[in-house]
Amino acid sequence: MRLPKPRGALSEWLVARLADPELSGSAPEADSWDDESISLWTLHELSFRGFEDADDRAEWDPELLGVRRDLETALEERLRARWAEAGVPPTPAPADVPTALEDLVAADDGPSLADFVRRHADRDQVLELLRQRSVYHLKESDPSAFVVPRLPVRAKAALMALQFDEYGDGDPNRLHSHLFARGLVAVGLRAEYGAYVDDALPENLEMNNAGSLFGLHRRLRGAAMGHLAAFEMTSSLPSRKMVQGLDRLGLDGPMSAYYDEHVEADAIHEHLAARDICGTLADDEPDQAAEILFGAFTCLDVEARFATAMLGAWEEQR
Ligand SMILES: [Fe+2]
Ligand SMILES: [Fe+2]
Repeated sequence: MRLPKPRGALSEWLVARLADPELSGSAPEADSWDDESISLWTLHELSFRGFEDADDRAEWDPELLGVRRDLETALEERLRARWAEAGVPPTPAPADVPTALEDLVAADDGPSLADFVRRHADRDQVLELLRQRSVYHLKESDPSAFVVPRLPVRAKAALMALQFDEYGDGDPNRLHSHLFARGLVAVGLRAEYGAYVDDALPENLEMNNAGSLFGLHRRLRGAAMGHLAAFEMTSSLPSRKMVQGLDRLGLDGPMSAYYDEHVEADAIHEHLAARDICGTLADDEPDQAAEILFGAFTCLDVEARFATAMLGAWEEQR
């Protein structure tokens, strides 16, 4: 993957700095949310697959880590402010964490992109959505992988069981990110890692940045696992709707198969994540109970904001 297109003063500086580590001058202020989001996305990506036109040592460059810390602090404050605004529920007893997660998911009234795809979306809209989704699905599960060494025994074993599935049960052709890549090719889109980052809406970048933030900080392990649980708990049914919408538009085949795989897999992952990961984590580390719910809320909240942005843009086009 090559460095993304800058979206403002900060990302312009960052992309230049990553291409040339000798570049002098310090980071300017971001001039928009878009600029901030692509900058943080780029800095996080240094810890995933990196960029062919960036110096690999940049991942641990103290100056860039300082920029990353400031952007992460602002992002975390935004996410926690939304959680406070939504009305933080009382912290559940560890044994009640799985039920509290179910309640949170049941109360989610964000708009559903899968509903729209199932019934109304045209082919161009679905392809646009798939390009947006590719930012995450081409690295599916990678942010959660960072959390493995940070968990106590039972949660660690359960996360590994879930991740083993996400990573194809040992078969590279069954990796979920690879299934999605094959789906992209089948519908005529590009499938290389990071292919459509330049098209990503800031809401989409924020959604990805939140997942990476939780995955990359041990302090946020509870939020990371709550985020994962909410993700898995809201995947099975929407995946079925995606299959119906793709089939309706004649986009059946590998892309439909990717979503079909998630109808059953995520019905199982849902329980693994809520009970065996989050439930046991809260039992072993009770101070993580509230953080698990914060992470779950954030997952639902950033998806709702992304869905609202996509549906709003389509509505405007009409
Ligand atoms: Fe998956
Ligand atoms: Fe899953």
